[in-house]
Amino acid sequence: AVNRVPLLAGNWKMNLDHLQAIAFVQKLAWTLKDASHDVESAEVAVFPPFTDLRSVQTLIAADKLPIAFGAQDVSMHDSGAYTGEISGAFLSQLDCTYVIIGHSERRTLHGEDDSVVAAKTAAAVKHGLVPVICVGETAEDLEKHGPSAVPVAQLRVALDGLGAAADIVVAYEPVWAIGSGQAATPDQAEQVAAALRSVIRELLGEDAAARTRILYGGSVKSSNIAGFMREPNVDGALVGGASLDVNEFASIVRFQK
Ligand code: G3P
Repeated sequence: AVNRVPLLAGNWKMNLDHLQAIAFVQKLAWTLKDASHDVESAEVAVFPPFTDLRSVQTLIAADKLPIAFGAQDVSMHDSGAYTGEISGAFLSQLDCTYVIIGHSERRTLHGEDDSVVAAKTAAAVKHGLVPVICVGETAEDLEKHGPSAVPVAQLRVALDGLGAAADIVVAYEPVWAIGSGQAATPDQAEQVAAALRSVIRELLGEDAAARTRILYGGSVKSSNIAGFMREPNVDGALVGGASLDVNEFASIVRFQK
């Protein structure tokens, strides 16, 4: 993670309504402040459901909290007759910095294939959002193709057509590690992260490869975060279940101590 500010991100998935979100973000900010969290040493981000974003935006702006936020999905379209979809333009107007694209739950439960992920990535960049592009193999993929082949192939499609200046984050989330309590080893995460960085180098160039943060996700908790953060190509974590407990998430953020 040399020269890259680590990003510790909480993907709330479909948890916490807007009232719970306000209470959570306030408590998170107090907890980080109590621990003298230094924003230079690690960036903290939360990904609430769409209906929470306005409340989270207002709270963070009013109290100038050192917490970034983003959405969990975005439409590939800008506006129009797309019932139920949310445009990247709307997310930018709500001051979202990030948007998660192609989470494995979107891929498997909502049929998002690599071309949808690529279109959504392009839409995010177009609207000034930083896409957090999720890739990862299933247990079956792992057995058949080894650890890197599927995530690498997914990332190649997602990056297709992006310019070298595009600001992106990549999250390696092995599907078998998500919500299973069985995280990858730091070694496994590093191996895939290094392969993903090579893809970024090849498609977007050396600068992009050097600055892009690659996160690990899948059963991250305060007791295993340090191992991942020691790896040179792992620049943070995308945390699901453990991000819903303020103290646990704050401990993950404070992994350095
Ligand atoms: O996006 C984060 C997520 O998929 C990992 O979930 O619950 O295994 O930390 P969890």
